[in-house]
Amino acid sequence: MKTHKIAVIAGDGIGPEVIAEGVKALDCVAAADGGFRFEYMYFPWGCEYYLQNGRMMPEDGMDTLAAFDAIFLGAVGYPGVPDHISLRDLLLRIRRGFDQYVNVRPVRLLRGAPCPLKNVKREDVDMVVIRENSEGEYAGEGAWFHRDTPQEYVHQTGVFTRKGCERIMRYAFELAQKKGWSVTSVSKGNALNYSMVFWDKIFHETAARYPQVATHEYLVDAAACHFVRDPGRFEVVVTSNLFGDILTDLGAAIAGGMGLAAGANLNPEGKFPSMFEPIHGSAPDIAGRGLANPMAAIWSASQMLEHFGYEQYAAKVLQAIENTLVEGKALTADLGGSAATAEVGDAVCGHLKALF
Ligand code: NAD
Ligand code: IPM
Ligand code: MN
Repeated sequence: MKTHKIAVIAGDGIGPEVIAEGVKALDCVAAADGGFRFEYMYFPWGCEYYLQNGRMMPEDGMDTLAAFDAIFLGAVGYPGVPDHISLRDLLLRIRRGFDQYVNVRPVRLLRGAPCPLKNVKREDVDMVVIRENSEGEYAGEGAWFHRDTPQEYVHQTGVFTRKGCERIMRYAFELAQKKGWSVTSVSKGNALNYSMVFWDKIFHETAARYPQVATHEYLVDAAACHFVRDPGRFEVVVTSNLFGDILTDLGAAIAGGMGLAAGANLNPEGKFPSMFEPIHGSAPDIAGRGLANPMAAIWSASQMLEHFGYEQYAAKVLQAIENTLVEGKALTADLGGSAATAEVGDAVCGHLKALF
């Protein structure tokens, strides 16, 4: 039987709680198909591991992960370990080390999900943000000068390479072409006179190679406003690492909240494993109490299915989430319900089974 080997890094806070429900959904799909299975290896890496071992993952952690078909990650970061250490040494290390340069973040308002916007039709909140995931503002380059003196200052250098910009834009245009959608570039060329002028130039070059794809361009501040006032104008959105980070939390806000926002970190060439994760963090404020909404994690499991070529099953998982929302019986507190995390996972699996 075909076996997909999954490395599970459940991580910190609500990470393990939501990942368990994602695994449930994957197993439910595999059982219904009968022709393949998932084999999980759990890695206890995260902030607790750091406090015991002085590092977020073992020295050979990346080599270990390289042998898997995909990585399923919950959340990283917890009070007690500085965020810039925990995130850079685990999550960002994997994204960069495995050249997962595409971050696919759907912003889609499912039926039954709450939306805080007025006068916006459900169908209008349906876009996918293609976030550059390997360089840009997250390059990690810089320096701290005259540290701890009155003269101290820092450089945090954004790195935008031609290769990095071209490949993310190509990915966005290919996706748009496939879906018959437009591509919107979000940048900030009026203030960032090197990085974003360069970004815009490469966007124009790439757009010229896809004359059949309609394009739009917004400055990021204006784009943030349009996300709220007129989200219908966005279909495929391509943007830089930091802008994509911020805009996708805004995207989550208009599409049901953090509990419903999923993301895939892809190495499209398949040279390294890709990683699937909810975009929310470890939510220390609700961790350990069964309050976390697992739908984002389950949605990212659906992205994993799509990545493995099971598009129809990916769609069924999403449909099962939507049916759970519409039914409204098993919802966590963020969606106005009182169900526990595992009850939501069970309900999604119930709907999933009914779809087979
Ligand atoms: P967060 O996403 O953890 O939480 C923000 C708010 O959303 C909180 O009120 C939280 O309770 C709520 N929330 C998040 N996920 C939820 C869910 N599934 N169900 C219900 N409510 C949910 O963001 P934060 O508080 O800024 O960060 C907490 C920690 O997580 C920090 O250490 C941060 O660096 C880290 N972080 C990690 C990731 C990741 O691993 N991918 C992403 C974002 C933040
Ligand atoms: C996300 C997160 C991460 C990011 C943090 C935790 C480093 O916010 O996945 O959106 O900024 O990419
Ligand atoms: Mn984020």
